[in-house]
Amino acid sequence: MRKNLTFILIIALMAVFLSACGGEEPVTTEDVAAPVSDIPAEYAEKTNPLADSSDAIAEGKSVFESTCSACHGDIGLGDGPAAASLTPPPASLVELNKTAADDYLLWRISEGKEGTAMVGWKTSLSEDQLWQVISYIRTFK
Ligand code: HEC
Repeated sequence: MRKNLTFILIIALMAVFLSACGGEEPVTTEDVAAPVSDIPAEYAEKTNPLADSSDAIAEGKSVFESTCSACHGDIGLGDGPAAASLTPPPASLVELNKTAADDYLLWRISEGKEGTAMVGWKTSLSEDQLWQVISYIRTFK
């Protein structure tokens, strides 16, 4: 009987010891930054009026190829010819596509992203072209 108790005590001590040194860092919300924060009111909740129209996708493809693919790559992987020299590197639009809503994309493409090579395009592209390029980005898988 005594022997058994000693054995249980040793196992219990080992468990405490192991859990104390094997702990992993807790995951915080900052680690899984969802690209939805801080969308300015003028963009918030907007949705693409052209959505997946095939004309919009075709127009968007030509805008993308002339304006965006040098950095973001032909199929949006963030690996265009200019990408290697940029810090931070261009975002993968394939990844962004999975999480970002239309309003976030419209905001970023219109206004750019401070501290990166991403400039705003709202003065050089029309509103239609901005939505067309979003229609095209939505085809990236
Ligand atoms: C000069 C290179 C360059 C060009 C041209 C460019 N981008 Fe970017 N883009 C970047 C970089 C760098 C970032 C910032 C990456 C990051 O957020 O870490 C970025 C960010 C973005 C984001 C936001 C990504 C995020 O996670 O927040 C979107 C959307 C985007 N670009 C779309 C476009 C579209 C559409 C065009 C064409 C109209 C374009 N970009 C043209 C370099 C470029």
